[in-house]
Amino acid sequence: MLAVIGGTGLGQLEGLVRERDELPETPWGKPSAPLVHGRYQGAPVIFLPRHGEGHRLAPHEINYRANIDALRQAGVNEIIAVAAVGGIESRLEPGTLALPEQIIDYTWGRAQSFSRPGEVIHADLTHPYSETLRQRLRQAASVAGAPLVDGGVYGATQGPRLETAAEVDRLERDGCTMVGMTGMPEAALARERGLDYACLAVSVNHAAGRGSPGQSIHASIEASLSEGMARVRAVLAAFISAAPA
Ligand code: HPA
Repeated sequence: MLAVIGGTGLGQLEGLVRERDELPETPWGKPSAPLVHGRYQGAPVIFLPRHGEGHRLAPHEINYRANIDALRQAGVNEIIAVAAVGGIESRLEPGTLALPEQIIDYTWGRAQSFSRPGEVIHADLTHPYSETLRQRLRQAASVAGAPLVDGGVYGATQGPRLETAAEVDRLERDGCTMVGMTGMPEAALARERGLDYACLAVSVNHAAGRGSPGQSIHASIEASLSEGMARVRAVLAAFISAAPA
């Protein structure tokens, strides 16, 4: 079963025929919002808005463990994590989709593992995203005619503030090509639970200090979010239509 985790700009999945909502309790607490069970293009899909209903949870307030565990309990084995990002590399103009291949984690103070006291889990995160899902997403983007930057490194920052220009310079020196606030520990937790996970990123602004001088990041986000998310929906529709029955 496929789940889509929606990020900023994707608080609901238009086109999803809702069947039921479920707010499960997990050993880690409740997920950000009720899981929406439904059908998208006839195929069963579960949708979860990462930031909760009405986008009320900041990135560091999200209960990532409850989200991943609730999806797993619901029978999910594949997750497409939609995430708005700031573009660091020049190809990531606002509105462009990207399929990152790697992550660097700069977050802190977030519950990063399902391990219990006395238990140690060393998840292998060499390749943090599922190559099979990435391949299918690449194919879906091509069918949908959505321009997609294939590959790149997602720098996961703590937020909720945006970065300084010097921080983005450092991210770039580290090899990051995009920056967002929710990529970790979500990817690591999905791996701990054995779920296939890939990130469909949408650049909604030039990262701090990139783009034209004086350009407002918030204005850029506002201007490009709906175009970017329309492309995401087109890719998801193509992905699901192509999915093996
Ligand atoms: N930085 C961090 N997270 C983001 C950005 C950004 O510029 N844009 C969207 N999410």
